[in-house]
Amino acid sequence: MRKPIIAANWKMHKTVAEAVDFCVKLRETVLTVSGVEVLVCPPFTALSPVSAVIKDSEIKLGAQNMHWEEQGAFTGEVSPLMLKEAGCDYVILGHSERRQFFGETDEVINKKARAAFAHDLLPIICVGERLEQREAGETEAVVTAQVNNSLSGLTAAQVDKLVIAYEPVWAIGTGKTASDEDAQSVIKLIRSLVAEQFNPASAEKLRIQYGGSVKPGNTAGLMAQADIDGALVGGASLDLESFWGIVKAVK
Ligand code: G3P
Repeated sequence: MRKPIIAANWKMHKTVAEAVDFCVKLRETVLTVSGVEVLVCPPFTALSPVSAVIKDSEIKLGAQNMHWEEQGAFTGEVSPLMLKEAGCDYVILGHSERRQFFGETDEVINKKARAAFAHDLLPIICVGERLEQREAGETEAVVTAQVNNSLSGLTAAQVDKLVIAYEPVWAIGTGKTASDEDAQSVIKLIRSLVAEQFNPASAEKLRIQYGGSVKPGNTAGLMAQADIDGALVGGASLDLESFWGIVKAVK
């Protein structure tokens, strides 16, 4: 049985004070729900202060990106060692916004995934098609390439612990959520790809989230799908009541 995982991707939002205040309140409420893994992914600047607040709680901490090198002349970048020092358990890799605005490729994401595992960080690898690709009937081909290339060279033991987030780009920040059936169909494909690339047992162990306009009102339908193990939440995770509504909707 895969433990559901709900992750808050705050992107470039929340000051340190806002992030700490949110997590102080979240810490009090998270005790009321068991069986769901809750993860917050603040901006780099808030990682250490949030880590101090959620220490000894059930809440996990994630970063939104990282470089694959441990150190070096990479202005503006943050290494896996720095994320571990800040208290991170997870790291989001290959978000569509990084692919779109920063030119990240599957090969770069693969290097980052290997480095994350090498430094005891669990990757959340993002995949998903753009609107024009879906309209051209290319969703399966796009997601297949992203999964196969981003996971290349990982071990089965690493894949067992991996999280993949299927985020159709056209659903991100638009209020347009994929239908439960469409989300299930693509996520079932992702699981089958992992079974072929690695083995059926690992495909059954890895967790796959849906992301793209997840709200408290659409969470139960998504989570009722056989292959959907959680959500990667953007806008709705910025408000505590809304994020908590999503966590509570996971049955
Ligand atoms: O990483 C999650 C994010 O891309 C989804 O954003 O605002 O559609 O929930 P949103």
